[in-house]
Amino acid sequence: MKLGTPLAPNAVKVMLLGCGELGKEVVIELQRLGVEVIGVDRYANAPAMQVAHRSHVIQMTDASALRALVEAERPHLIVPEIEAIATDELARIEADGLATVIPTARATQLTMNREGIRRLAAEELGLPTSPYAFATSQAELEAGAAAVGFPCFVKPVMSSSGKGQSYVETPFDVAAAWEYALSAGRVAEAKVIVEGRITFDYEITLLTVRSLDAAGNIQTSFCAPVGHRQVKGDYVESWQPQAMSPLALERARDMAGKVTAALGGRGLFGVELFVKGDDVWFSEVSPRPHDTGLVTLATQTFSEFALHARAILGLPVDVTLERPGASAVIYGGMDATGVGFEGVAQALSVPGADIRLFGKPEAFERRRMGVAIARGDDTDEARARATEAAGKVRVVKSSDSFSRKAGEGSRKRHIP
Ligand SMILES: Nc1ncnc2c1ncn2[C@@H]1O[C@H](COP(=O)(O)OP(=O)(O)OP(=O)(O)O)[C@@H](O)[C@H]1O
Ligand SMILES: [Mg+2]
Repeated sequence: MKLGTPLAPNAVKVMLLGCGELGKEVVIELQRLGVEVIGVDRYANAPAMQVAHRSHVIQMTDASALRALVEAERPHLIVPEIEAIATDELARIEADGLATVIPTARATQLTMNREGIRRLAAEELGLPTSPYAFATSQAELEAGAAAVGFPCFVKPVMSSSGKGQSYVETPFDVAAAWEYALSAGRVAEAKVIVEGRITFDYEITLLTVRSLDAAGNIQTSFCAPVGHRQVKGDYVESWQPQAMSPLALERARDMAGKVTAALGGRGLFGVELFVKGDDVWFSEVSPRPHDTGLVTLATQTFSEFALHARAILGLPVDVTLERPGASAVIYGGMDATGVGFEGVAQALSVPGADIRLFGKPEAFERRRMGVAIARGDDTDEARARATEAAGKVRVVKSSDSFSRKAGEGSRKRHIP
């Protein structure tokens, strides 16, 4: 693989489909290697667009719009950052030899639908998972829930970040879970998975990288396990390393190796696993950097974003963990556009802490607007620091701008 000069005829061109905060960090890493980056998302000024060479706003679920854009831009690599994409069109683009889809078009098809990845992991690869059933009606869901047992989780097969998910404790709550899943599913097709609850000690993301070794063969590398805490299907804090028994770690790596090998291609994957003692269950996998892996910005020699950039370009990777660390999410806390951030100086005064503000044009109550990351002597110290730093940042509706005068703090523009 030869690298080129961006905006020149020999440029290596990457098209990013989805321009959120994870994509933004990937683009920054690609920029450092002189790669030409084209950002694509449904809305203008998305985080990764702000650091790309150029960008386009299209409906990425629209197959013909996606095809037309790929034909116009002719990227070498297409890097999906979200699941809601016309993945069947990605498969045609790959089959026609127009571009390489990262990690593979089939991986994006299988992982955008909980049924695809669950059947692959449990039925083809034989990985342990929660008991599960699929349902396309309330009656089927009632039967499925009874079969997997209570309590259970009901999730639309096409959804992410906890959308449309219910935790169901009794048969009387199944009807409401069905209604809720219908309201939040990504597509018109009404299909849910119902999963029996796994009572785990902790859950991890095992960041797994498929890259080329010196001889040009695929090699699989595992980052130190990332522990995390989820609230309503959304991650609120993560830390690395999560301590594990040697047997649990070996099983986790074995499962992550198998599922990533089955998905194929090159790149970084976030393999979500539940752990109890020495027992490990596969939950799901993202064929791309994972939100809980934001912690690697503080902990690893090369963050998950740098590893993804290197792996997709066919370059070697180094998954060394340098120190313990943690991340804590900064939420919008309100619905508003062009918000301000107060308390950043106080956040950065927390020892070992740093922050990322994603630059999203619009805040929502539960939208992730930034993240605090921190290092520490151990993960307890790092978690306390990250949580403290995140808590210092306040999202505000504000028309005040940054002072243009040196040597003074923020000051109101209009003094009555
Ligand atoms: N079967 C289960 N047993 C126990 N806990 C579960 C189960 N399914 C989901 N959870 C909990 O809910 C969280 C979110 O579930 P899951 O990862 O399937 O949803 P998601 O919408 O894909 O979330 P994200 O996109 O944030 O990864 C899990 O990380 C876990 O904490
Ligand atoms: Mg998940």
